[in-house]
Amino acid sequence: MKVHHLLLFLHLAGVIVWMGGMVFAHLCLRPAALELPPAQRLSLWRAVFGRFFPLVAAAVATILLTGFAMLADVGFAQAPRTWHVMALLGTVMAGVFASIWFGPWPRLRQAVAEESWARGAEALATIRQRVGLNLVLGTLTVAVAILGLAL
Ligand code: HEM
Repeated sequence: MKVHHLLLFLHLAGVIVWMGGMVFAHLCLRPAALELPPAQRLSLWRAVFGRFFPLVAAAVATILLTGFAMLADVGFAQAPRTWHVMALLGTVMAGVFASIWFGPWPRLRQAVAEESWARGAEALATIRQRVGLNLVLGTLTVAVAILGLAL
């Protein structure tokens, strides 16, 4: 087994955790949670994200570290164009996640603690939009990586 294979395994493990979690949250949990009254719905999301976001933070760090390590190993100038596009999209996705982590996520936690459901719903709507954006960007990134769709 080469180091490259180990790096690729860790890279893809991170991608699976991040993308799989977003698909589950956006397409399965969200429509089901919409049937709950606001107090229960927002408390549920606060508990779910309290477990999911630290996992995503670890996944993002792993994806970036292993991705750039594989890129540097081959050499930035020699690397295929698709890898550069992946690096760009991956960095944008990490930025979108950071904007959730430092923005609406603390606002949602505070709103739930204060039982301020209107403010909580606002923060949750922002999180939903940004997770939706990352889902689209992530799908595009996987398409670029596997189908070689260099833009
Ligand atoms: C800064 C961020 C990233 C960098 C520098 C990066 C770099 C790389 C590199 C160098 C490979 C090895 C390709 C090979 O051995 O053929 C790879 C594979 C892969 N990456 Fe990334 N990546 C990044 C982010 C992402 C993200 C965010 C996703 C998906 C959401 C992703 C999905 C994939 C997939 C599916 C592969 C396997 C492709 C294959 O080997 O055929 N990457 N990445």
